[in-house]
Amino acid sequence: MHASPLFARAVARLLCRVDAALGRPPVLDFVDMAAGRGELAGGVLAALPDDVAARTRVYAVEVDGRPEGLDPRVRWLAEPPGGLTGLLFANEWLDNVPVDVAEVDAAGVARRVLVRGDGAQRLGEPVTGAAAAWLERWWPLPGEEGLRAEIGLPRDEAWTSAVGALDAGLAVAADYAHTAAARPPFGTLTGFRAGRETPPVPDGSCDITAHVALDACAAAHATRCAPECAPPDALMRPQREALHALGVTGVRPPLALARTDPAAYVRALASASQAAELTAPGGLGDFLWLLQPVGAVDAAALLVDVADDEEQ
Ligand SMILES: C[S@@+](CC[C@H](N)C(=O)[O-])C[C@H]1O[C@@H](n2cnc3c(N)ncnc32)[C@H](O)[C@@H]1O
Repeated sequence: MHASPLFARAVARLLCRVDAALGRPPVLDFVDMAAGRGELAGGVLAALPDDVAARTRVYAVEVDGRPEGLDPRVRWLAEPPGGLTGLLFANEWLDNVPVDVAEVDAAGVARRVLVRGDGAQRLGEPVTGAAAAWLERWWPLPGEEGLRAEIGLPRDEAWTSAVGALDAGLAVAADYAHTAAARPPFGTLTGFRAGRETPPVPDGSCDITAHVALDACAAAHATRCAPECAPPDALMRPQREALHALGVTGVRPPLALARTDPAAYVRALASASQAAELTAPGGLGDFLWLLQPVGAVDAAALLVDVADDEEQ
């Protein structure tokens, strides 16, 4: 979870670019999908220029309750409303959508992994039907005993449904992810408790996550649209590149500033260290962003270098 002010400012900048690409509609929508405590929704509102904020409807979509103190302009919903024009941003949502795990048995057959409340695992029935077709297409398992895959079908469906809330604009999923070129051979099922990795025991004591097969999500939306609407091209970028294009650089302020304006120097230094964390190789910088445009929006043009951006 990293809805820091710097991150929110970058997403606000992306929203402004989407706004411009849509011809500055009278009502612009921003959805913080799987909003957690709504930090991103609040942060984006705070970072928008006044004229854009005045015509922006901000939604936080979250199954959990509304936190106290959130900006009252943020509308708190359990599901995205339909007919949106603008930006839907899902930060660390899809890795939370539950998936089944498949493992290859001694005979080379992929079977569902069953788990008890204490975390003990055993192999169940062979994977068949739509789940087997998904594995075959997105995460083929050679017949070597012990290899694992996470069956991403429910994430494809969740993503397709969320993108479907947009009439026009851009949907972004930012997550721990992989693509067909580099699937992890034993999967990535992990538990987290109080920010630390822990065995994935399904007893309510920890969050259970698995990295997202994001290329499959992108293709699922395209398949849903084709052939009538010929969806525009989706784009996938490491978070590091996406944030750089949105003005998050991590460059340290010049030392001279410490002499002339110490307070500004400290602020700039804090911002640079936040940026470094968000873009760190081997860390959050390796997150993948899927940019899925809807309607006449060119995703690549939205990630022009910040120097060329005249919006803000
Ligand atoms: C890892 S947290 C991410 C929170 C926030 N986006 C952030 O980056 O800080 C995942 C959130 O997704 C929410 N969530 C999971 N499935 C959801 C769904 N179908 N609709 C809305 N929220 C959902 C969970 O309640 C949780 O708050």
